[in-house]
Amino acid sequence: MQIEKDVKTIINSLKDSSIDYKGLRVLISGGAGFLGSYICDVLIEMGATVFCVDNLSSGRLENIQDLIDQKEDQFTFMRQDIVDASVLEIEDQFDVILHLASRAAPMEFEKYPIAILSTNTIGTMNTLELAKRSNAKILFTSTSETYGDPDPQFVPTPETYAGSVISTGIRSCYEEGKRSGEAFMAAYLRQYGINTRIVRIFNTYGPRIRADGVYGRVVPRFVNQALIGDPITVFGDGAQTRSFSYATDTVEGILRAAILDSASGEIFNIGNDKEMTVLQLAKIVKEQTNSDSEFVFSKLPEGDPKRRCPNVTKAKTILNWSPKVDLHTGLKNFISWVSELK
Ligand SMILES: NC(=O)c1ccc[n+]([C@@H]2O[C@H](COP(=O)([O-])OP(=O)(O)OC[C@H]3O[C@@H](n4cnc5c(N)ncnc54)[C@H](O)[C@@H]3O)[C@@H](O)[C@H]2O)c1
Repeated sequence: MQIEKDVKTIINSLKDSSIDYKGLRVLISGGAGFLGSYICDVLIEMGATVFCVDNLSSGRLENIQDLIDQKEDQFTFMRQDIVDASVLEIEDQFDVILHLASRAAPMEFEKYPIAILSTNTIGTMNTLELAKRSNAKILFTSTSETYGDPDPQFVPTPETYAGSVISTGIRSCYEEGKRSGEAFMAAYLRQYGINTRIVRIFNTYGPRIRADGVYGRVVPRFVNQALIGDPITVFGDGAQTRSFSYATDTVEGILRAAILDSASGEIFNIGNDKEMTVLQLAKIVKEQTNSDSEFVFSKLPEGDPKRRCPNVTKAKTILNWSPKVDLHTGLKNFISWVSELK
């Protein structure tokens, strides 16, 4: 099974650097989502106690059902909105808090802007309050979208790039929500000395990422269209670039940043630094799935960034992390997981 293999890969890479979560108490918001549920699996396998808070807006209970059923001494699930003040009634103490809660697919930005903005602002403040009470390390999953549509001279984009974002644009609930979440992290660090860390994640794909309806992100959308022989829908002329990270690399980066002392107060880009056009991706997916699908080109969504590629030098140096999975291997793993579902 692909996910079990991936979980082992992540644990082995962490253990090679003597990183272990055994015995730690970890709160994770958004733990029923794509990346969050991977993290729950890894932490439980490593021997941590995990408290998962999720409102199941874009996540799925089935992602964590095995943990609920089989690991009840280590795993607690609470269906709860992180924005709701009642989350502050959680009395448990934690060593580490991972704040992943947030819808993350571009089509959702148009449909749920208020929920997205409040999850990344009020929700971030609530998790910081929990961290303050527990004296816990806290990590916030920010995004490459904080850079907006970067000036080409800042691609690959370093963490020091301040960003080019329109505050009222169609994507602003997410871009500005994440930027405000980062500002909350900085404020709690300055005012209360909270042990914060921020990761700016670039496009990540892998098993459990949703492909349906408004949740569909580009890799699962292309793969599903190619596998069933539907036209592969490319936005614009497909010349916009992205760089694609497989789940194991991104999750490993998150779990390194969350715990290493050297990461305290820092911001890291986490993503794959191989940049390609969306049309190139579509062609690779078509080839790797042996598909007869045609390409169809549709209107480029408003605010769609022209280029996305991280400079990951800082994560390499401080976290001893680097992306290891190339697109071909990652797609093979993802396609193999999609086949397991049939
Ligand atoms: N996957 C990527 O490519 C990517 C890229 C950049 C940033 N990120 C960030 O990483 C995090 C996880 O993303 P993902 O890809 O796993 O997305 P996802 O949608 O699969 O997971 C998000 C989870 O958060 C939960 N959630 C949303 N709002 C909530 C709220 N108010 N209260 C409680 N739970 C809530 C959802 O139900 C879901 O389980 C997000 O913060 C996202 O912004 C992801």
